[in-house]
Amino acid sequence: MDFELGEEYALRMDAEDPLAQYRKRFYQIPGKIYMDGNSLGLLSKDAETSLKRVFEEWKGLSIGGWTGAEIPWITYAERLGAMEAGLVGAEPDEVVVCGGTTVNLHALVATFYRPEGERRKILADELNFPSDIYALAAQVRLRGGDPDDDLILVKSRDGLVIEEDDVINAMTEEVTLILLPSVYYRSGQLLDMGRLTREARERGITIGFDCSHSVGVVPHRFDEWGVDWALWCNYKYMNGGPGATGSIYVNRRHFGTAPGLAGWFGNDRATMFDMDVRFDPAKDASAWQIGTTTMLSTAPLEGAIRVINEAGIENIRLKSTKITAYLMYLVDELLSGEPYRFGVATPREPERRGGHVGVMHGDAWRVAEALKARGVIPDFRPPNIIRLAPIPLYSGYRDVWEVVQHLKAIVDNGEHERFSRERGTVT
Ligand SMILES: Cc1ncc(COP(=O)(O)O)c(C=O)c1O
Repeated sequence: MDFELGEEYALRMDAEDPLAQYRKRFYQIPGKIYMDGNSLGLLSKDAETSLKRVFEEWKGLSIGGWTGAEIPWITYAERLGAMEAGLVGAEPDEVVVCGGTTVNLHALVATFYRPEGERRKILADELNFPSDIYALAAQVRLRGGDPDDDLILVKSRDGLVIEEDDVINAMTEEVTLILLPSVYYRSGQLLDMGRLTREARERGITIGFDCSHSVGVVPHRFDEWGVDWALWCNYKYMNGGPGATGSIYVNRRHFGTAPGLAGWFGNDRATMFDMDVRFDPAKDASAWQIGTTTMLSTAPLEGAIRVINEAGIENIRLKSTKITAYLMYLVDELLSGEPYRFGVATPREPERRGGHVGVMHGDAWRVAEALKARGVIPDFRPPNIIRLAPIPLYSGYRDVWEVVQHLKAIVDNGEHERFSRERGTVT
């Protein structure tokens, strides 16, 4: 792409941006440039409205909200799942909004991990978010296995990305289940989920993806690819609020499979209140719910999904690839040489990256602190990555341009050297 270095170019790009109108739908933090929507998305007015409505329904209807609310709470999880289905290329009944990210991973692995004879290994990788690996190891132990033997972690060749070829080569006859992230939380690498799914299925291996870092910014085609199951969090690019309820996708060919962690919200709604001790699971993804829908942690997501669907995930992706390419261009042009020494951890090919850029620096922690002092909100991931996420719905090219000027000024003035090397607990 033909980018230019000057501020006028950034302003022109903002003026021509078809998604620029969405910025005013979000509460910006006054005086700050927010580059951390890949960790926690900003609050939209739409999310505020849906939360307030549910709050009022609680006030006015109380228990009656389960059946009498605008969207009856008893089927809220399914209704929101249906609203999200288009974002992941699924049928409406293949997605349900419930639980939390790690809990949902446990629920799915408890269902689909079926060690038998020699075929008992789970394949994952060493760069995935640690919580996922903790969950996989715990699931292996629950089946009487030893994670040192039964959990294989594909290694990264460079500490930043995982080669799909290395994953495919590790798909041996001993592997029964694969879990991979869609996008890596550090480098922002996007895996080729279609290819990996094809290879896994040819070998009779069940494959699932943690799409926490891609849903809401990257389109997915789960049904077309034949993915077995997936999960994601709704507080990053989905803007559903801190600790928002997560989501589960189960391919319809698995409908009828007994959920590994059963609970009454997974029961068929028609017989749920018969209170029979025999579990009668729902006939679709709804069966993987466990307990009561956490309405107040779910309600903001309703408005948040509406904004994303209105803007269109393909339009969001188009801007995302462009604005992240622009950020990498500015880092390359202005910050890669002496004395700046910044690098880019994120793959350059648009089809190999998600919505954030991993900017590397030898003193990344202190540079991130100096950025915060200048009113930019990034985040830091050890050992040396500053993550910057220009979010298509509420970040502009001028924001990106300014962030890069701040990085340059920080090094020019040695501002980062005034900060302690000691890290805080939330980075
Ligand atoms: C890829 C990925 N998986 C799992 C988690 C854990 O999510 P939760 O705390 O909602 O269980 C995170 C959190 O950021 C994540 O980024």
